[in-house]
Amino acid sequence: MHDVTTSAIKSFENISDARPKMLIQKLVKAIHEYIDDVELTQQEWEMAIDFLTRTGQLCHEQRQEYILLSDVLGVSMLVDEINHSKNHEQTPSTVFGPFFIANMPVRHYADSIIEEKVGDEMPLLVKGKIFNQQGEAIKNAKIEVWQTAENGMYSGQDPDQPVANLRGAFMSQENGEYAFKSILPVSYQIPSDGTVGELLNYSKRHFWRPAHIHFMIIAEGYQPLVTHLFIQNDEYLQGDAVFGVKDRLIVGFEQKQADATSKQQFGLDESFNLIEYDFVLSKGE
Ligand code: BEZ
Ligand code: FE
Repeated sequence: MHDVTTSAIKSFENISDARPKMLIQKLVKAIHEYIDDVELTQQEWEMAIDFLTRTGQLCHEQRQEYILLSDVLGVSMLVDEINHSKNHEQTPSTVFGPFFIANMPVRHYADSIIEEKVGDEMPLLVKGKIFNQQGEAIKNAKIEVWQTAENGMYSGQDPDQPVANLRGAFMSQENGEYAFKSILPVSYQIPSDGTVGELLNYSKRHFWRPAHIHFMIIAEGYQPLVTHLFIQNDEYLQGDAVFGVKDRLIVGFEQKQADATSKQQFGLDESFNLIEYDFVLSKGE
């Protein structure tokens, strides 16, 4: 080990909390080992500093290029795997992504999240129940959903969409049920106009994510669940730019004819696609 590595690690000896001290010392050790291993040149060091500086300069309230960087490096999913994969009964989690917007309208059971209809896509009904691991229904869970429009853009990204378009919060019913109307999401490309774009282009990597709907489910006494439902047969399920796909989150949809029940329960009087999915939360804070 180089003297400077030993000295740099030792310089953090006085951090009194054990965990932060370990985190910082091991980080210094890992960075030094990497630099030593690759024999980093002065010019490469300057390029790295410049890349990180420009990544930081791109960040503001509506944009987090560092999270995107973490996503494309697989770091976000590694953290997810370490923290959330031990419990096999609960619904798997996946990346949060940069496109969540807080304080979206709280909508009623079976409402539509479409605020601006563009094409004439067949309606989609998404429904299911929220359970705990004991199989008991969870009422009053808050289910936040968000997804792309037909053009592959989220509201907030696309100035032509009302901010609440294809977004909303739903409360689960007494029997744990939730339902909302939408359209099928499409596969889309993650932002490519920043430093992450430079990195992916340089690496000849693509920017696509398979079609999905985002969910964040929060219920008192349970661990929050951040996840997606991916649509089966999407061509990018095997090559998600941010490594977020898990088999148990891939769902099929079925085409249904409208009938008296669909009209009465869900306000659907034309053919529609149906996705049914139950979520399982685990107890905790
Ligand atoms: C998303 O699904 O919204 C997303 C996740 C990670 C990076 C970019 C977008
Ligand atoms: Fe997304």
